[in-house]
Formats: sequence, C-alpha cells, structure tokens
Amino acid sequence: MTDAPEAAIAAAEPVDPTTTAAWEALEEHDLEIAGSLREWFAEDPQRAERFTHDAADLHVDLSKNLVTAETIELLLQLADQTGVLERRDAMYSGGHINTTEDRAVLHTALRRPAGASPALTVDGQDVDADVQEVLGRVADFARRVRSGEWTGVTGKRIETVVNIGIGGSDLGPVMVYEALKPFAQEGLEARFISNIDPTDAYETTKDLDPETTLVIVASKTFTTLETITNAKLVRAWLLDGLAEKAGLAPEKQAEAIAKHFIAVSTALDKVAEFGIDTDNAFGFWSWVGGRYSVDSAIGTSLAIVLGPEAFEELLAGFHAMDEHFRTAAPEVNVPLLMGLINVWNVNFLEAETHAVLPYSQYLHRFPAYLQQLTMESNGKSVRWDGSPVTTETGEIFWGEPGTNGQHAFYQLIHQGTRIIPADFIAFADPAHPLKDGEQDVHELFLANFFAQTKALAFGKTADEVRAEGTEGSLVAAREFSGDRPTTSIMAPALTPGVLGQLIALYEHITFVQGAVWGINSFDQWGVELGKQLAKGLAPAVAGDEDAIAAEDSSTAALIRYYREHRSV
Ligand code: F6P
Repeated sequence: MTDAPEAAIAAAEPVDPTTTAAWEALEEHDLEIAGSLREWFAEDPQRAERFTHDAADLHVDLSKNLVTAETIELLLQLADQTGVLERRDAMYSGGHINTTEDRAVLHTALRRPAGASPALTVDGQDVDADVQEVLGRVADFARRVRSGEWTGVTGKRIETVVNIGIGGSDLGPVMVYEALKPFAQEGLEARFISNIDPTDAYETTKDLDPETTLVIVASKTFTTLETITNAKLVRAWLLDGLAEKAGLAPEKQAEAIAKHFIAVSTALDKVAEFGIDTDNAFGFWSWVGGRYSVDSAIGTSLAIVLGPEAFEELLAGFHAMDEHFRTAAPEVNVPLLMGLINVWNVNFLEAETHAVLPYSQYLHRFPAYLQQLTMESNGKSVRWDGSPVTTETGEIFWGEPGTNGQHAFYQLIHQGTRIIPADFIAFADPAHPLKDGEQDVHELFLANFFAQTKALAFGKTADEVRAEGTEGSLVAAREFSGDRPTTSIMAPALTPGVLGQLIALYEHITFVQGAVWGINSFDQWGVELGKQLAKGLAPAVAGDEDAIAAEDSSTAALIRYYREHRSV
C-alpha cells in the first residue's frame, strides 16, 4: 500500500482547519446567525424533513440542532477543505493513517462480508482471507460450546462465559451483551471482569461453578496488568475449585486450563507463555484498535452466548453503516453530518460535553462504551504531524438511559448555563411489550423521549408561564430558554444488525471530528504515563521507606496513610 495515493494522504501534513476559508465563514456565520429553533421551525415547515436522513436502518433527525441550511453547507466546505473524505478513503484502503504507530486502521475490514470484491490486500496481507479464517474458527468454537460438544474438564457443559479484559477488550463485549440480552441462549450467560480491584474478580466468580465456567482472556497486547492479574486470580480460583469440588488431580491441571481457558489476542506467543493452548486462541491484528475491536475475535464471548448468527448480523450492521459512510453523498451522509455538527457545537458554540441518552434500558452501557471510543480517540492536543492542535478537540461524552437521567441531571441540560448537545436514541419496537392495564408502557416511555427533545428545542417562554397562572418573580425559574440542541436517532428495533449500525455510526462520527482537527484518532499515548508510574510505585506501596521518601510529599503522605490504615 505504501506507493498508493492513500499512503501520501496518510502521511500528508494536516490542514489547519482554522486557516480555511470555510472556518472563517463559519465564524462570521456564528456571529450573524439569527433566530431560534422556534422561528426556524415556524418559517420552514419542511425543516424536519430537510434535516432528517436515513442511514441503513437508522432514522436520524438533525433538525433540532442549532444549524441552518447555510451552516451545513459551510460545514461540508470545511470537510472538503480539510480533506476528510480523502482521509476516509485512505482508512478504508489500508493507508497508514495511524502515524505515531505507523499502522493501517482497518476495523472496517473486520466486517466486510465473505467474498467481498475486490479483495482487500494491505501491506502484502490478504486481509479478507485472514478475517474470514478467524471468524470461521470463532463461529465453530461458539457452536461447539453452545451445543454442549465442548465441555469442561469434568465433562459438564459450559453455562457461564467469563470474559477477562479491560478497555476495548471489555467495554464492547459488555455493552453488546447487555444490549442484546434477549438473544442469549437459555442456560448460557456471560460475565465480565475488568477492574484490578480484586473485588471485581471475587464478586464475579463467587457464585460460579468452575466445572461449568469457560474463561476468555481478552487482551490485544496480552501485557495489560489488570487483565493478566485477573486471569491469574481466576486461574487459581478455577484450579482450587476443581480440586475441591471435583477432586481434580494436580497432573490434570494443564488439561483443565486447556478446557476452561481460551484467549483472544494479537500476541499469540504471550498467550502460550501464559499457559493457554494456542489452538484455543483467536487472533486479530495490529490494525484493529482496542476500542474498535468488538467486531473482531474480541467478540468471542458474544458469538458464544448470543450465537454466531447474531454475531454475523451484528457485523452486517457495521458493514451497512460502513458502506453508507463510504458511498453516501456528503449532503446525506449521516456520520459525516453528525461529526461536522459536533465540530460546530465544540468549536463555534463552545460546547464542552455531549450527552448520549438511550431510551432503551438494554443500552445502559452504551454511553460508557462511547466514552472510550470518542475520548480515547479524540482527546489529543497534538496533530498527526506532532504539531500542536489549533483549536479545541474532543468532547466529554457522558449519559444514562432515559428516563432515569430525566430525574437526575436533565435539569442542567434544560436550564443550566452551559450548552450540552445531546443524542437521543429510541426504538419503535419494545423488547418486551408490557401493559399497565390498557396502557402500553413502551408508549409512555417514548412519550418521554419525544417530550424531552421538544422541551429542549422549543422551551417555554415567560408569557407561556404566566398563561399558566404563575406571576412575578416566580416566572423566571419556570421559564425554559429552548434552543438546546439535540439529535434524535430512531430505528425499528434493537436487533444485532441495528446495534452494529449504531456502533459504526459513532466510530465514523469520531473519525470525522479527528480528521477535521488534524489529529490521529487511533493512538492513545495519554494512557501510558499512569501505567508506567503505577509499576514504579509498587516498592513504595509495599512499604520500602527509601522509595516512599523519594516520592513527592503528597504521594508519600498518601502512601503512608494507606500503610498505617490497612488492617487486613
Ligand atoms: O490503556 C488503554 C488501552 O491500551 C486501551 O486502548 C485498550 O483497549 C486497553 O488498554 C486494553 O488493552 P489490551 O486489549 O491490550 O489488554
């Protein structure tokens, strides 16, 4: 790929967005833009239609954002002038756009359908063949566990799959498992251990039967302290439990590990060092970023519990959104438009945070998943050539499912002093169509979704408050300014395919923002310093006085406090 035009784009210096004609025009536009959502909707009965687009099965209404047709036109010019679409094409075709690690960025290759044409060869590697080979092995293994053909060392069928991983090796599998619980095979559940706080391993395993537990150690690098430590804790739990409960003889320990431990990693040599049979390991590649890896073998727990067919549907959903992002015209390209609107909100309207509010209890881990995706990707202060960024980057992503959030933090979104753009997500079909007498409860739920986006957009004027009988100084507290930007994302139902589309949508939104800002959204050097220091602090934490004394006064005092107060 190195002599392809994409390689030149990957290596090209980033365009400073603030020097473009579009940026200048957007700044002027920001000062000149007049009106409010109330006025814009009144003036233009077609506004909702004009700003609503379909992307695969997602129906996305952008009309309640603080944008006019001219804003969108200028933002598209900004994308053009900063080379966003050329960079997109470089990504899809394997250009090394992850410059600080000199890597291709090819998560989109993980979900290309079998037999996709033309075949994708990158850096001399037949990517399609590699991907299909691993997917086939994962599906085959999943079927054996699901059917009971694969058993534990004592011959019992597997009932619980414990995924041990952290960051991208945890958040994606947890989020998808929680989202698609209704698709799980009866009698099979997944659990997840991520935190090095030993409480996590303890609580997750305390009521499990080692004879029916399969452990997946998921780590791209297979060096992550949390994951390796937890894997060792669970290995000890498993072997002790099998010895105690099933009388496992010491000479059968290796067989027990082979039957109860599998691994997912790009570092199969380290998997073998840990003692896991590499026949029971599934690989992936350096061109898959951790936070982009749920659709690789990192999703093995999902393929087992939800089934290989559901996993395939999930991948097909990702691919449908990849194709939309790759081929849809810019004016109707949803990830492009949403990424650009985020740039507008951050750089021109000075938004600092972004709420994601799924009206679906099953999506309760989606905001946490997006935090890694967006903040590890775009929380950067230098551009891909090492020069400082020229404008604010990143956004703080946060959220909770509606309606819980409504009774907690929506107050600040409605009436606080900061602008908080919010994405509302809902599905036409309930997973469980329950009724309270005659009342369909999903309808009550969705009425809240529609009401909140309406209230945020149009607010309530002082006159409207007075018309309800409130007077004097009490009016102000009951007024709602409106003009609080939201995007509404709807789909027919929360299926594996729709979930794949939703995840890929946010991957590409994140990409667009990074490309405009000129940053490498695919490295994460900012997580390294803390890891390094934690290792170096071990002797001090263990009580080495010289090591404690060598620390700064705050750190030394905190360690001393810990040492004095630890009682167990
Ligand atoms: O520390 C951050 C990070 O590197 C993430 O990017 C990654 O998803 C996570 O750690 C886990 O890494 P691994 O899969 O290599 O264990």
